Amino acid sequence: MHPPAPPLRSHPRLQLHHSAPLDLHASFAQDVAIGLAKTPKQIPPKYFYDQAGSLLFEEITRLDAYYLTRLERVILAQGLRDILALVPARVAVVEFGSGSADKTRAVLAALMARQGRLDYIPIDISSSAVAQYGQTLLAEFPDLHIQGMISDYPQAIQRLGGAAESPRLFLFLGSSLGNFTPEESVEFLGNVRAVMGKEDRFLLGADMAKDPAVLNAAYDDPQGVTARFNVNLLARINRELAGGFELSRFAHRAWYLPEHHRVEMHLESLEDQIVPVGARGISFRKGETIHTENSYKYTPPLLTTIVQQSGLVPLGQWSDERGWFTLNMLGPA
Ligand code: AVI
Repeated sequence: MHPPAPPLRSHPRLQLHHSAPLDLHASFAQDVAIGLAKTPKQIPPKYFYDQAGSLLFEEITRLDAYYLTRLERVILAQGLRDILALVPARVAVVEFGSGSADKTRAVLAALMARQGRLDYIPIDISSSAVAQYGQTLLAEFPDLHIQGMISDYPQAIQRLGGAAESPRLFLFLGSSLGNFTPEESVEFLGNVRAVMGKEDRFLLGADMAKDPAVLNAAYDDPQGVTARFNVNLLARINRELAGGFELSRFAHRAWYLPEHHRVEMHLESLEDQIVPVGARGISFRKGETIHTENSYKYTPPLLTTIVQQSGLVPLGQWSDERGWFTLNMLGPA
């Protein structure tokens, strides 16, 4: 979720491990073709994050309406001492998604103050994300050693399966779990659980269910940044897959469905139209949507069920005073 970095310079404290290369362009073309042939139409949210989309996401995290990032940062800062008290004395940090800016930095800095040398393993599909963020961190922290994994999560988890030299603290922040369905979340967390040693810990950010008005504003902000983020997916199809979407003929829609525990984002066709994508023509009826994202909002029982079904146990939870966002320390059951 980062813009491309300058070319990667080698650094004695940076190693990058690439898993079996994925043809990102081919996967994008295939997933768009399959998703637009479905009823209802859908495109996986992982394709939001090209260069423009990553910048727009960064902008979203700074919006007043998008409280998630702000609250998680405050909860982490206020609870850091207690949070790290549940983590073994010497750990390596493994982060899913290669973190952004100060949230992860605060955890890394506190651990280095405690233990000196720290091994940090960011996992991201984009080498530029790992490189950009890694180089900034290395310049700042002489005790930091980075072994970035350029990989999707399933391959990275497989690689993490070998015996680890020290206990690990896994990080999955920003309520990114919310972009998985509960079933996918159990599968993902269960796979991580399967490679965890008994001293390993998992710190999970989770956005909680709340007043629909707050959630609807967070995903349809008055400045229209989330709308641009959503519509950028069509612009990306135009740029990379020879698409012919007229962006003004689609509108951003977002709504919270409490009975499904999620905010859904869609792109709605404002008229009947046929849009060329590569050699195909895709028909849209007026009012028809492409479903682009689910963002799950957890009730305490839903979160507990997911954690338990994954073979994990809650060891601690930190929240803001309204209980809008939680950080959850988990350990193997
Ligand atoms: C990355 N992910 C956790 C964000 C979310 O809140 O679901 C993506 C996002 N979509 C719209 N705004 C932000």
